[in-house]
Amino acid sequence: MKILVVGSGGREHALVWKISQSRRVDEIYAAPGNAGIRDLATIVDIKASNFIELADFAQEKDIDLTVVGPEMPLSLGIVDEFNKRNLKIFGPTQKAAILESSKSFAKEFMQKTGIPTAPFKVFISPNEALEYLKASSFPQVIKADGLAGGKGVFICNNISESIEVLKMIMIEKKFGKSGEKVVIEDFLEGKEMSFMVVTDGKRALPFVTSMDYKKALENDKGLNSGGMGAISPSPVIDENLYNDIMKTVIQPTIEGMKRDGKEFRGVLYAGLIITASGPMALEYNVRFGDPETQPVLLRLNSDLVDILEGSADGSLYDIPVEWDEGVSGCVVLTSKGYPQKYETGKQVMGLERAKAKGVEIFHAGTTFRDNALYTSGGRVLNICAKAPTLKDVMKKVYDAISFISFDNLNFRPDIGRLKQ
Ligand code: GLY
Repeated sequence: MKILVVGSGGREHALVWKISQSRRVDEIYAAPGNAGIRDLATIVDIKASNFIELADFAQEKDIDLTVVGPEMPLSLGIVDEFNKRNLKIFGPTQKAAILESSKSFAKEFMQKTGIPTAPFKVFISPNEALEYLKASSFPQVIKADGLAGGKGVFICNNISESIEVLKMIMIEKKFGKSGEKVVIEDFLEGKEMSFMVVTDGKRALPFVTSMDYKKALENDKGLNSGGMGAISPSPVIDENLYNDIMKTVIQPTIEGMKRDGKEFRGVLYAGLIITASGPMALEYNVRFGDPETQPVLLRLNSDLVDILEGSADGSLYDIPVEWDEGVSGCVVLTSKGYPQKYETGKQVMGLERAKAKGVEIFHAGTTFRDNALYTSGGRVLNICAKAPTLKDVMKKVYDAISFISFDNLNFRPDIGRLKQ
């Protein structure tokens, strides 16, 4: 088989790594890929959002399956374009991707489908949003309606923080059109969990759970980022909770989307909070989480290509899926400034010595030139490991990190610590 992976982050490197282990795969292409992916796949110089060119490429090369990593091409309609040309692709259509591309759609869908979620209101007027907040008890959560690279969610502890956030989203338009509407919802106390399933529109094939460390700084301080690290499994999962999530969140979402004429295929990722009264849905993503996918795929013992193809074909019947019983984790190394404006162009050293410690290194914002590796993004490298216990995992990861250097290298030192 020939596979095309779309995207350039740590998630896509992990997908390419896992796909390269499939006995069914002869050739992998990655568009646009990164400096780590180039060791496993042929790099194609087409941007992830340029889906017409990607479809032309898939046609020309006779690609058997295209796997889309990021949300942007999905929300732009890459799957619709490939479907129109009878090219096989893994992911939801534009109509179904709205679960992630509009937070207000997602919340209204949860409400009408009876999926447990926090009370909320949607605003297009900053003044009305402000009046509502003045009459609310804090904390409140303000979310930009559209895509914001995981950076559009703000927990506000008082009215002056809320004013700043509303101004940034709706007046200064930091997220462009994504901030034309906001969702304001009650803050929920509990433990966050990432729950991903692969679905063919009817059945759900659950992946192992994970926990993402979203805040940029140690002890969950600072701004929300795309994710600074992750561990798998989530420390709060047990069989009852798992069944509860499938019954109250995942199945109703898949059935509700189908009923509404928006059949959902691909990864359905529910961002959950486990409260004293049970699991509640915070948001949906319509693709694999980044960095959650890195530790999750480290634990997958089965052929990922069978799963992705089953979803794309609508034939996710009895695909046997085996998981490693151990624990896995990932720490993201970032450039100075991330998740805001960040530095790039710093030489990266020490990867071979780090790898010798038994970790997998998935690249994100890296580029290779003049025989050397340089930083080119906010999230630069994902250092990942698997072991029987979380303590062993994190020791392996942090030991390996001590060999890696670039100017102003930054990372959270507390990934795997369980207080949240
Ligand atoms: N790590 C969060 C996300 O992938 O959206």
